[in-house]
Amino acid sequence: MLKNHFKLISGTANKKLAEEVAKILKVPLTPVEIKKFHDGEIYCRVLESVRGCDVFIIQPTSPDASLNLMELLIMVDALKRSSPDKITAVIPYYGYCRQDKKTKPREPITAKLVANMIEVAGVSRVITFDLHVAQVQGFFDIPSDNLEVIPLFAEYIASKKLKNVVVVSPDAGGAARAREFGKVLHAPIAIVDKRRPEPNVAEVHNIIGDVKGKTAFIVDDIIDTAGSITGAANILMKFGAKDVYALATHPVLSNPAIERIQSSLIKEVIVTNTIEIPEVKRLSRLRVISIAPLLAETVKRTHEGLPMGIVYEEMYKNLEKKLK
Ligand code: R5P
Repeated sequence: MLKNHFKLISGTANKKLAEEVAKILKVPLTPVEIKKFHDGEIYCRVLESVRGCDVFIIQPTSPDASLNLMELLIMVDALKRSSPDKITAVIPYYGYCRQDKKTKPREPITAKLVANMIEVAGVSRVITFDLHVAQVQGFFDIPSDNLEVIPLFAEYIASKKLKNVVVVSPDAGGAARAREFGKVLHAPIAIVDKRRPEPNVAEVHNIIGDVKGKTAFIVDDIIDTAGSITGAANILMKFGAKDVYALATHPVLSNPAIERIQSSLIKEVIVTNTIEIPEVKRLSRLRVISIAPLLAETVKRTHEGLPMGIVYEEMYKNLEKKLK
């Protein structure tokens, strides 16, 4: 189905996801050799010709974000010097995105810095999932597709056939995401008043909206230390929510996320596989929804120059039927 000049390559950050995509597309992964010098320096060599090819490289910036970003850049450099036609960087989790503006003097804007680095390395297009804020797409001067996972999450929620649902944003910054999600589910929204006195510290103060007696779905982009979702769950229960679920696209799950989720009141935590979750972090309460089918379709359509809008229209149409 896909022509000879199509190549799919994986870095080491999430090979399982790349293999799932390769299986759906019925193509082999192009072999690469990736190793490290003793000082940690990364070496990469593409083991077959990519001359004139349309190359897709899958590499999220999973923890360790800096290491995986560097590996992506080095792989792109190796490819660029091998005369492909185009290089698309598929970055299912685009880290460094939370630093998207200066909130205090003398701070960096890493979301822009990383976009610059990716472009300079030689990428001609990027595909991301659920960027921390969608406007980061504008930090790239090359075409970018930022895919939403809302229909995947909504389908899972619809299968639960729950009544009296409220969608909750764990902070003011996520209100747009919650609003969009609420629209899809035909549910009202609530917003948690969260403050961040410093990175990775979340203080929860209040809730805007009515959650009493309702099943609450906290929706966020990232679960890092799980301070935001567990803090939100506590206040939701305090304000009378019946049950609390948490949904987040990117399971970063840094310490002490697992302990926090385990000792929380959250019934189920639903995430995707943009980041591979190590076995030790696989709680029974954690449900992982695969983005592989959506990613495979996106890669195929990008290669063939076809639009993605129709795919989403179809997904939303099917969802609407399930919600009736
Ligand atoms: C912050 O603005 C993000 O959207 C997430 O809420 C945050 O990164 C989650 O971090 P943590 O799990 O450490 O609270």
